[in-house]
Amino acid sequence: MLKFMKKTIIILALGSLIFSFTGCTSVEKKRIVRISHSQSQEHPDHLGLLAFEKYVESRLGDKYDVQIFPNELLGPSVKTLELTQTGAIDYVLTSTGNVETFDNIYQIFSLPYLFDSTEAYHAVMEDKKLINGIYESTKASGFQGVTWFDAGTRNFYAKTPIKTPKDLKSKKIRVIQSPVNVRMMQLLGASATPMSFGEVYTAIQQGVIDGAENNELALTNNKHGEVAKNYVYNQHQMVPDILVANVKFLEGLSTEDRKVFDGAAKEATKVERENWDKQVKEAIKKAKGMGVKFRETDIKPFKEKVMPLHKELLSQNKKLKPIYDKIQEVNKKYSVKGGK
Ligand code: GCU
Repeated sequence: MLKFMKKTIIILALGSLIFSFTGCTSVEKKRIVRISHSQSQEHPDHLGLLAFEKYVESRLGDKYDVQIFPNELLGPSVKTLELTQTGAIDYVLTSTGNVETFDNIYQIFSLPYLFDSTEAYHAVMEDKKLINGIYESTKASGFQGVTWFDAGTRNFYAKTPIKTPKDLKSKKIRVIQSPVNVRMMQLLGASATPMSFGEVYTAIQQGVIDGAENNELALTNNKHGEVAKNYVYNQHQMVPDILVANVKFLEGLSTEDRKVFDGAAKEATKVERENWDKQVKEAIKKAKGMGVKFRETDIKPFKEKVMPLHKELLSQNKKLKPIYDKIQEVNKKYSVKGGK
């Protein structure tokens, strides 16, 4: 943590130093807009954010300099969420799992087997009324969601094969730093090990954990496939990433500039989603080349273990019920239409 804080302070300080040395050039007048994320520069998240940058700078390049910091360069997600809350940085793209401890409305997305199909998941995330309500509900905490990015389906991967929940028994599995994820692992009989995304590779390599759970891109973009060769399609979650912004920054924008930033967020999602499926296919191919074995499995035993979490969470967090009910309606609609 200290290492990340130091790195962050150095990067931000260097930025202001350059800023003060540039004197009366046009750079001086530009507002630097800092966006942090955890992925590599090839990942769809980064491509989406580059589209954001291009959208803003092609319209308001004389006023804003959008700077994207990939690879947890400004710190792990939880740290950068704090930086976004205080306004030290302006945006962070992160999993909703990481936002949960800042506002428990985001617990909804950590519920296992919440969505019955990808179609239902996408439809919910594109339901402006429902989603904007969630995005705006965190304003008092200093940040708000502005758009979502697809992050696929989360599945287990480990050094040894996981075919049924029995194979998870007592295994140390990394989870996002979220209480709901920890509880889900308890129900599966595994030993949940919360840690930031950037620590996972070394933790598997050194045997601190036995495995993790994520979409296929983690195997290649983050090289986890080098150290964990068994990936199983148990499909326990579809957890989106959201782009979160500092509220004061957004509210300080003029109406015209705000329109541009809102348009940029929309464009970012479009570009990220256009790249998602393609990159997942490529990742599977590449991971196979790295020696990763992909296995289909019966999801029923996994589902049976974790479904009690739905009732448990809904009774603990009253905010979730209306959102949950709406999601069930959407699930039904898509299952009628032929979803899974
Ligand atoms: C996904 C997601 C990231 C998140 C990561 C994690 O890759 O896109 O935003 O950080 O999972 O498990 O931490």
